[in-house]
Amino acid sequence: MEYTVLKGTHDIINNEAYNYSYIENLLSNIAKIYNFKEFRIPIIEKTSLFVRSVGESSDVVRKEMYSFLDKGEREITLRPEFTAGIIRSIVNNKLLFNDVPVKAFYCGPVFRYERPQLGRYRQFNQFGIEIVGSNSYLRDVECIVFGYNALKMLGFKDVRLVINTLGDANSRKLYKEKLVEYFSKHIDEMCADCHERLEINPLRILDCKNEDDQHIIFNAPKISDFLSKESNERFQNILNCLDILGVEYTVDEKLVRGLDYYSETVFEYHYTSEKGINYGAIGGGGFYNNLVKEIGGPDVSGVGLSFGIERLFNILKDNNLLAKDDGLDVYIIPIGNISNQYLSVLFTTIRDYGFSCDINLESSSFSSSFKKAERNNAKFAIIVGEEEINTHILTVKNIETKEQFKVVENDLISFLDKNLEEDNDHCHE
Ligand code: HAM
Repeated sequence: MEYTVLKGTHDIINNEAYNYSYIENLLSNIAKIYNFKEFRIPIIEKTSLFVRSVGESSDVVRKEMYSFLDKGEREITLRPEFTAGIIRSIVNNKLLFNDVPVKAFYCGPVFRYERPQLGRYRQFNQFGIEIVGSNSYLRDVECIVFGYNALKMLGFKDVRLVINTLGDANSRKLYKEKLVEYFSKHIDEMCADCHERLEINPLRILDCKNEDDQHIIFNAPKISDFLSKESNERFQNILNCLDILGVEYTVDEKLVRGLDYYSETVFEYHYTSEKGINYGAIGGGGFYNNLVKEIGGPDVSGVGLSFGIERLFNILKDNNLLAKDDGLDVYIIPIGNISNQYLSVLFTTIRDYGFSCDINLESSSFSSSFKKAERNNAKFAIIVGEEEINTHILTVKNIETKEQFKVVENDLISFLDKNLEEDNDHCHE
């Protein structure tokens, strides 16, 4: 029997894994500058948590959740996103009774049963932030700017920030009524999905990608005509801040986002490469004012955003922005029959001093050993033959320059210290 990865899942190995860590570390470090604290929450939660928060009208809940009964007959779901679980954790741990807002960042796998295609997986990874317990619109600005700057620091040039407001509950109620009125007149000409959307949540029709429906959607009523004074002011204040900060954006009144908990601000980051490849939404988020209460917490609001790591990685890869593995400091090449005790002391000592090190114990010829050192991206090769053992003088070769040194055994660590100090930041005496 042949085992392969399940459809929509993928192994992340070698340089790809290195770059996933690179992306996650970069985003975590920026998050720490913004005073976000790391949350690690379970991958499984009660199904009802997501049904309640992400919402019964969302595609995620209706079609995409990995839900099952566990052996105790409990209804459980592999998280399809983080926000609901983060709020559950904040509420359970009573964090909103201490300092508000709570600022969380998180990273890990999420699961959605979607049709796999370029940049769309069934198991993928998200990195995100949430600010919970504050009503200030500056918190929205903080999240939007975090995402914008993070993408810049990854080296992305042509990020398009798309932003919209869904207004408060009243504005939305009025708007939805108008949408139902409008789309009911045209629904016979529209796709089957839109028929369903009209029943469940007419806002979702604005998100329809069907070409033939676009002219009808284009002429639909606009949310801006139904915004309350407060919602309008809130949105304009956010846009003003973005203007002052030089953050470029496009207001798109069709942006509604696919999850039910949003209110007021919603936003997404889109990316199209110079070659014209459209990577779609690489991250998105928004403000929510009912979610915390819905999950059993106090009546406070929050705002957040999540990035899809797979999509960030694909952009790095396609645009030559990948980070390069640091490689090894030292690769040991034994020649002939060298005592295993001697070799074990040598590689353990080097590693104990904090230098990365490996040894060739497999291939016999010097040239194939040397090639292995190169493939491991090693900076120095230490060649150990009988002569080296007898004289206690090691042969050390700089792999890049091919320069060769004779180094007294006892001086090896200070030699490595001196010659690798520019590259490394070792923490040894
Ligand atoms: P979302 O837009 O559903 O938002 O997902 C965020 C990001 O995850 C997307 O922009 C995309 O990059 C990535 N993504 C989504 N689905 C897939 C997939 N099937 N394969 C690969 N990547 C995918 C949320 O999840 C919200 N929780 C964001 C948020 C945080 N809102 C407030 N706080």
